[in-house]
Amino acid sequence: MRETWLDLERLAQTESVFALANGHLGLRANLDEGEPFGQPGTYLAGFYETRPLPYAEPGYGDPEDGQTVVNVTNGKIIRLAVEDEPFDVRYGELRRHERVLDLRAGVLRRTAEWVSPTGRLVRVSSTRLVSFTQRSIAAICYEVEPLEEEVLVVLQSELVTNETLPITEPDPRAAAALASPLASDLFTGEELGAMLIHTTMGSGLTVAAAMDHRVDGPPDTQTAIRSEGDLARLTITATAAPGRPLRVTKFVGYSWSGERTVPALRDQVDAALAGAVQTGWEGLLQQQRAFLDTFWKDADIEIDGDAELQQAVRFALFHTVQAGARGEQRLIPAKGLTGPGYDGHTFWDTEAFVLPLLLLTYSRRQAVADALRWRHSTLELARERARSLGLRGAAFPWRTIHGEECSGYWPAGGAAFHINAAIADAVERYLLLTQDETFAREAGVELLVETARLWRSLGNHDAVGRFRIDGVTGPDEYSAVADNNVYTNLMAARNLRAAADAIERHPELARPLGVDEEEATSWRTAAEAIFIPYDASLGVHPQAEGFTEHQEWDFDSTPPENYPLLRHYPYFDLYRKQVVKQADLVMALFYVGEYFTPEQKARDFAFYERLTVRDSSLSAPIQAAVAAEVGHIELAYDYFAEAALLDLDDLNHNTRDGVHIASLAAACTAAITGFGGLRDLGGKLSFVPRLPQALTRLALNLRARETIRLRIEVEQTQATYTLLMGEQLEIYHHGEPITVTAGRPVQCPIPPAPALEPPTQPRGRAPQHRRAHEATRH
Ligand code: BGC
Repeated sequence: MRETWLDLERLAQTESVFALANGHLGLRANLDEGEPFGQPGTYLAGFYETRPLPYAEPGYGDPEDGQTVVNVTNGKIIRLAVEDEPFDVRYGELRRHERVLDLRAGVLRRTAEWVSPTGRLVRVSSTRLVSFTQRSIAAICYEVEPLEEEVLVVLQSELVTNETLPITEPDPRAAAALASPLASDLFTGEELGAMLIHTTMGSGLTVAAAMDHRVDGPPDTQTAIRSEGDLARLTITATAAPGRPLRVTKFVGYSWSGERTVPALRDQVDAALAGAVQTGWEGLLQQQRAFLDTFWKDADIEIDGDAELQQAVRFALFHTVQAGARGEQRLIPAKGLTGPGYDGHTFWDTEAFVLPLLLLTYSRRQAVADALRWRHSTLELARERARSLGLRGAAFPWRTIHGEECSGYWPAGGAAFHINAAIADAVERYLLLTQDETFAREAGVELLVETARLWRSLGNHDAVGRFRIDGVTGPDEYSAVADNNVYTNLMAARNLRAAADAIERHPELARPLGVDEEEATSWRTAAEAIFIPYDASLGVHPQAEGFTEHQEWDFDSTPPENYPLLRHYPYFDLYRKQVVKQADLVMALFYVGEYFTPEQKARDFAFYERLTVRDSSLSAPIQAAVAAEVGHIELAYDYFAEAALLDLDDLNHNTRDGVHIASLAAACTAAITGFGGLRDLGGKLSFVPRLPQALTRLALNLRARETIRLRIEVEQTQATYTLLMGEQLEIYHHGEPITVTAGRPVQCPIPPAPALEPPTQPRGRAPQHRRAHEATRH
């Protein structure tokens, strides 16, 4: 991914797009010299500060404190002075500036040629990585070379804590808590290395950041180190000349803890740094490459016919693995570790969108187990939350960093109970695929049981025996607190069944988890009796009871600049009309597809197309998958393109706050489930592959089961299935059962798509029509 000129207007966006992370540590692509910046950012998964959550009218059970990701000590900074003039792209003359995010090497490269205000021409090159193999480590190789004459250069390689951030927090109390969140515990500096340790005032978390260097410069090179509370600096001076550059390799290490003492963290980060220095820059590069070689071999999605989307999909896969690879029992936030958006919180995005993709493609299953184990580690808080709501089992938070509910707006947050079913569903998928018994015993079954208990207590059997779940919010945030949301009810029923099945498989866990036969039976009874409303007069499913009777939103009088609607209309009005922010009933068609007939899917999809405005980035990829399934393959292509290009084209104008990890992951899933047509039917894989006209080939490698890998290559008129691992696999191709055996690829013809009336979207909200040959921008 190449940027050939530095556009200061888009600096914040590119800082997100070019961000490097490994799931534990994330660095925004801030310029080496620190300024100008859009938003400085260095993040550690799970490291947060508490902040007040102000309410005009507090209610019982409202969360009292919020949590916000902290921009920790910045170890990226290497400032340069050329004969006294600071290298700053806003001054002097920038002759050339290029940044490349190398998805294969896992590095960000930058080259700049700059003439200082006094006329000295220098070339600055830097390569930065956040190590996938040594998760606390980032490293930078920085080189400056004068291009015309000998020049005195000074480098200042720094650790900076409590950087001044652009003010985005409207509430002054919260802004104050976050203005300078880190208090100094310890600073050291010796030879070429330094360390700063700080603790947050509210959450009491301690972070240690340390740096060490290798310097390779002209004979007169000198160094000096200093360190104080919020600043450590290694100064390197040298007379460089053409052919005689000054090169510095900077190793940066981070560790943090809420439990460990300052000396323990000091030693931990020292050890991590020593390991990285021992591996060396070249060694880190090699490890990074080897890690990514394995990743791409397993996960790559090949697309022929649309080079821009090919690149976008690889970019999306890269950010997904950056968000999830080394989280190691911490959360995966909605923006990964690429920006402060959504306060660094995790939502259902992780379990419903990110983990399913990682499961399909990524061979390190541990990453998924770890993310779910993080949820499990917050179970006690979720139980407390359920109790405070008068419910049983566990109520996981709609948004959080540490595990406590942080949503200050209950109709969209606290009432969005469907997150619990998404967690249970991810557990089920993981178990089905891996048969990981240790995980099942230690975390999986308990997660299923506690979420099932929640549903059982949240719903009730009505006078005619139907199991109803009233007064909850589904995925569509332009409706709230509705009765019997179809997606929620179907997912809850699945959750209830999964818990009962899990206890049957693991009778030894029944007693420790306190489940008796009566309780397990009550889950099955509720699941069987789940109420799914249907509007017989329209022949469609209302997304929640009564929805289709509401007045329709007046789309024709809604000007384009009034989207997203939530910024221009009161929730009061959105909630009582038929207008859909994001796939909701269409989520049900996708996730719980077995419940619907093909005819129902087609009718429901068309019905909701008319009402869906896609004010959430989580909508388009799901619409893509279902559009492809019901036969609108060109529309699927348009939605797929929108999802895949969301951050590269900054379609929602908020990529500056971080990339949309769930939407990027779901774009990849849309390629797999839409054009590859993959569905998992009761343990059997089914494919309904079909390509839009512009694409000539799509190739996917899928982890079908733990020991089975399947490659599928789709062309316009045929699909080829090849077993990459395993002996034999039974699958369906367009409804026909076929058997794929090792060493014998099977070719199957693709039937022509049915001719269907194209659905319509609200005025001005149709996705942009994709013309692949025009797209050569990135
Ligand atoms: C969406 C939610 C999503 C959240 C974080 C909201 O705009 O409506 O479904 O979980 O963003 O991505």
